[in-house]
Amino acid sequence: MMKSVYIAFGVVVGAAMVAGGVAWAIIAWRGSGPGAPPPPPRGWWETADLYQIYPRSFKDSDGDGVGDLPGITSKLEHLVEAGAGAAWLSPVFQSPMVDAGYDVSDFYSIHEEYGKMEDFEQLVRRAHELGLKVLLDFVPNHASTESQYFKDSEDRVEGFEDFFVWADGLHDPENESNILPPSNWVSQFGGSAWQWSEKRGQFYLHQFSVQQADFNFRSPAVRDEMLQIMRFWLDKGADGFRIDGLPYLMEANPADHGGRYPDDPLCGRKEFGPNQLGYTVPLYTKDLIELYDIVYDWREFVDNYQRENGGDTRVILTEGYTNISMTMQYYGYGGRLGAHFPFNFGFITDLTRGFSAPDLVYCVLKWLTYMPRGAVANWVLGNHDNSRVASRLRPALVDGLNALTALLPGASVTYQGEELGMRDGRVSWRQTVDVEACSRGNEQTYQLYSRDPARTPFHWDGGPSAGFSSNASTWLPVASDHREINLERQKKEPRSHFKVFQALKALRKRPTLTHGDYIVEALSDKTLVVVRHLAPLDSFTLVFNVAGSSDTVHTDWIRSLKLPATVYVTSLSSKRNAGDVISPGPLELQAGEALVLQASSLVSYGHKLS
Ligand code: NOJ
Ligand code: MG
Ligand code: CA
Repeated sequence: MMKSVYIAFGVVVGAAMVAGGVAWAIIAWRGSGPGAPPPPPRGWWETADLYQIYPRSFKDSDGDGVGDLPGITSKLEHLVEAGAGAAWLSPVFQSPMVDAGYDVSDFYSIHEEYGKMEDFEQLVRRAHELGLKVLLDFVPNHASTESQYFKDSEDRVEGFEDFFVWADGLHDPENESNILPPSNWVSQFGGSAWQWSEKRGQFYLHQFSVQQADFNFRSPAVRDEMLQIMRFWLDKGADGFRIDGLPYLMEANPADHGGRYPDDPLCGRKEFGPNQLGYTVPLYTKDLIELYDIVYDWREFVDNYQRENGGDTRVILTEGYTNISMTMQYYGYGGRLGAHFPFNFGFITDLTRGFSAPDLVYCVLKWLTYMPRGAVANWVLGNHDNSRVASRLRPALVDGLNALTALLPGASVTYQGEELGMRDGRVSWRQTVDVEACSRGNEQTYQLYSRDPARTPFHWDGGPSAGFSSNASTWLPVASDHREINLERQKKEPRSHFKVFQALKALRKRPTLTHGDYIVEALSDKTLVVVRHLAPLDSFTLVFNVAGSSDTVHTDWIRSLKLPATVYVTSLSSKRNAGDVISPGPLELQAGEALVLQASSLVSYGHKLS
């Protein structure tokens, strides 16, 4: 007997912003009709809930006031409870900690404050037992000036002469005895990007701090060493890497510029002095097209590693703050695959306090519009380099934004503490350790630059040092609001940010969210909706008033929502409860109120062809 064939029809896609891969997967699944088999599995990373652990501030096991690997291992269950599928650890490698571990002095060993190699192995073992993947932070652009690589390069040890970007200085026409840096390049942390080495009699490049020397990626030996480092950690069980600082990986080649490093053009704004970031336009120091091939080589490397060694996909996720077209090229180009995804920083860079619903929609659709067909989206609300969501935007928006990242298609990335709505801690100038704040700021201005407030210890409970450490003195002060905002309390309270977060993460495992179509629209200046649907299953709709005052929308305005609907989860700012019924008519939303509604499918499922 001929099997009935159904095709999907009448699927309301609204703005029709459907990522190619998503759409095809759905159609393929619907093809087998009602009572259809479950949707095809996705790669673990495609719908992953990635949780960023900042090792210094997660959990201190030995009472030295600094987080460590055994501390992380002891708290991995928290990630499971928070619905995460993978942990990304900010750097855990040997480091003098000038830039909190982003200045690696030995890429093959564990930083002593964090523990030993066995502690790392134990962490990975436990994570895998719990079903969690572990991603490491790979920092290829630079190494600590205390690394053996740098020392050997400075000493011109054979094989290491060109490991870093070295250059002769320029003669100072005004002062014979002075040597000027090779170009006007400015470091990300302010000041010249060139530092004189007395030993070598040349300048070396540092796009970040003076103690972070830039590797020379034109050297095949450097490229090869990077692969050895990745292989080492994959062999130790890492499931992939978050790759740091990619836009700065390469700089202009002097061979193309008459043998010298060309000056970056001046931006022309009078408020910037030559030592300030922003003085120049980084034409020769950022986003060089050659760097992408290196990323594509790394993708090939991890793919080959997986083919040779079996197991799940090893992923590479790239970090870079740059424009949308340069960002998208990290996904791949010209038939070559690149990152599994580049981090999407739109919610950090494009949203400012007081943003409107259209601002938010625009931000979401920007990524989905530019993303290559079949690629996987991702949504990042915060990280260790930026003010926390509650402080940067508004505390009332925490649940709604967590709901947004949960409902959108693709992966979501959560920085530790955002599941509790943690706020920036207060860190005085005296307590400030962030190299960026110390280099770019002074006692009056450091708060403009300091990343320390977002890095204060995690709030496990309301006790001394927030349950982070047995030590009353911690590497950064514990934020004083830990007595109100902490995990223990949020687990006990009937409604809390953490409970909302848990409900959202549980929802993300449903096929409607892993495989469904989506609509993202603004209903008004204040209210945004995201609809996820996958007939014949229930649809899920987020209705979110992002404004500081109430808004009344009409349920008729929400395309593809079949009423009555049931409230699945609400933000804390809502007076509604899970299980409440929403009937057709006007819908009043409080300031910051977010509702996730569950409704039966609007689309009648199939059209029988034969
Ligand atoms: C990006 C990292 O997230 C940041 O913390 C660091 O300072 C720079 N890259 C340099 O490694
Ligand atoms: Mg410790
Ligand atoms: Ca570089």
